[in-house]
Amino acid sequence: MDPSIKKDQHTNRDGKNVSLWQDGVKLYRAEALFIDNVYDVLVIGGGITGITTALLLQQQGKNVVLAEAKTIGFGTTGGTSAHLNTFFDATYPEIDSDFGADASKLLAQGGIEAMAFIEEMVKKYAIDCDHEYKDAYLFSQNEDESKQLDDILTSSNNAGIKVTQVDTNGVNVPFEKSILFKNQGQFHPLKYISKLAEEFVNAGGVILENTFINDIKSDDEIHIATSGDLSIKAFNMVYATHMPPGITLFNFNCAPYRSYVISVTLADDNYPDCLAYDMKEPYHYFRTHTVDGKKHLIVGGEDHKTGHDDPEKAFEELETYVRQHYKVTSVNHKWSSQYYVPADLLPFIGRLPMAANNVFAATGYNGNGMMFGTLAGKILADLIAGKQNPYAKLFSPSRIKPIAGFSEFVKENADVAYRFVTDRFSAEEIDSLKTLEKDSGAIVKYNDQKLAVYKDAEGGIHALSPVCTHAGCVVNFNASEKTWDCPCHGGRFDIDGNVLTGPPMKELKKVNLT
Ligand code: FES
Repeated sequence: MDPSIKKDQHTNRDGKNVSLWQDGVKLYRAEALFIDNVYDVLVIGGGITGITTALLLQQQGKNVVLAEAKTIGFGTTGGTSAHLNTFFDATYPEIDSDFGADASKLLAQGGIEAMAFIEEMVKKYAIDCDHEYKDAYLFSQNEDESKQLDDILTSSNNAGIKVTQVDTNGVNVPFEKSILFKNQGQFHPLKYISKLAEEFVNAGGVILENTFINDIKSDDEIHIATSGDLSIKAFNMVYATHMPPGITLFNFNCAPYRSYVISVTLADDNYPDCLAYDMKEPYHYFRTHTVDGKKHLIVGGEDHKTGHDDPEKAFEELETYVRQHYKVTSVNHKWSSQYYVPADLLPFIGRLPMAANNVFAATGYNGNGMMFGTLAGKILADLIAGKQNPYAKLFSPSRIKPIAGFSEFVKENADVAYRFVTDRFSAEEIDSLKTLEKDSGAIVKYNDQKLAVYKDAEGGIHALSPVCTHAGCVVNFNASEKTWDCPCHGGRFDIDGNVLTGPPMKELKKVNLT
C-alpha cells in the first residue's frame, strides 16, 4: 500500500460498497489546465474506455479534454472483476450463428489485439498493476453444458483462439468437462487506468474531474458541453459513459445488469492459480489476486437486471456458493457494478446514430468491459483521426441487426415497457415514516404522495420523487449499494438524488416533508 494512504482510505465509486481495487489505492490526480479554446475532442467519462481513447488521440496530436463527473474509475472500471480474455460472454458459436464465421475471426483478433495493447501499455509505462497471464478454464456441469462446451471448443479454434480439452478446471468445483484457454490475463484496473491518465496529461491532455456535464448543445461543427459555469467546446465528442444521456437507440437495444463480486480469504491457502468460469446462467467465475501481500479469492456472479431483483440476496447466494466449494475464513470485500447486455450479442462502438455530427459512443460490453473498453479506445481514436479500423464495421452502432437478435431485442423492450406500466402503481402505503427502519429505503405512499424515501443511520429522512428523470420509470432501492436504481435503462442515483450513472442528466427531485 502507498505509505501516504491511511488505513481504510479508499477511492470513490458509484455505490457504498468498497471494491478490492478501491482499497488503499492512490489515483492520479491532475491539476486542471483547462483553457477556454475549442478542443479537437471532448471525452466524457474517466473509465478504461474514456482514458484509453483520450490517451491515443492526444498522442496522435489531437487536443483532448476528458470530463469525468466524479473521479477517475468512479464507474464500472472501479467495480470490474478485471478479467482479460480472448473469449467473451457472447460465445464464438453464437457469433458464428448470428454474424458468421468471419465475424468470429475478427472478434478473436480484436481480443488478441486488446490483450496485446494492455501488455504494451504495461511495459511501455512500467505500470505496476499486477498484470499477469493465466490459464483460463471454462467447465460444464451437465450434459447440455458439455454439448455447448464442445461447440465452444470447435468454434473458438476455428476463430483462431487455441483451446484444448483438459482434465482439470483449476478450482474446487465439480465438473463434467473442461476446456483450457491459454494466455488469458488479469490486472488491477484502477492502477492501470491511473497510469494511463497520467500519461495522457503528460502528453498534453486535460482531465477535469468532478465535472458533471448537465447540458450539451451541438451545431454542425461544434459541441458545447456545460458543467455549472464551465463551457467546454469541442469538434468531436465521445460518450465513454456506457449510456449517453437522453433518449438514444441504446435505450432500446441494451439492457442494464448488476454483477456481484466478493473477495475472500481461505483457511487452507488453496487459492486457484488460474481463471475459471462455469456455464450457468448467469455464470460464476473465479480468480486470485494478491494485494499488499495478502491473497484474495475473487468470485463473481448472480447477475441480474438492474433494479429487478434483491441485491442483498444476490450477495448472500454468492457467498453461500463460495462457501460450498472453499474454506472461507473471511469475506473481505463485496461489491456490485453495472454493465450492459447488447440485444444482438456484440458491443456498440462508433458514431452515435441519430445524433449530431461527430458524436461517438461505446457500450454493450456485456461482462467483458476491460477488453472491449480497450478495443473501443483504439476504434474510437481511429475513427476520430480519420483512419480505417478493422473492427469499426463489426461493432458499428448503426449495424443492421441480424434476425437472431431480434427476439431478445423485443423481450428486453417488453420488459422495459412492463416496468413503465406496473411501476406507476406499486408502493407500500404507510401512515408514518417512523415505520421505516434506519439505513433502509423504500418506495412508499405517504400523505397521498408516492416517494422514494431513505432513512439514514441517524434517522434522518431523505425523500425524493421516485420518477426517474430520464424517461419516467420508477426507481427501486438498492439496499446493498444504498442507491436508487432505475429498472428501465440503468440510471442510478444516490440517496440525495444525485445522478451516479446515466442516461439521466438531472437529479431526482427532492421532496421536503416538513
Ligand atoms: Fe431510463 Fe430511468 S434510466 S427511465
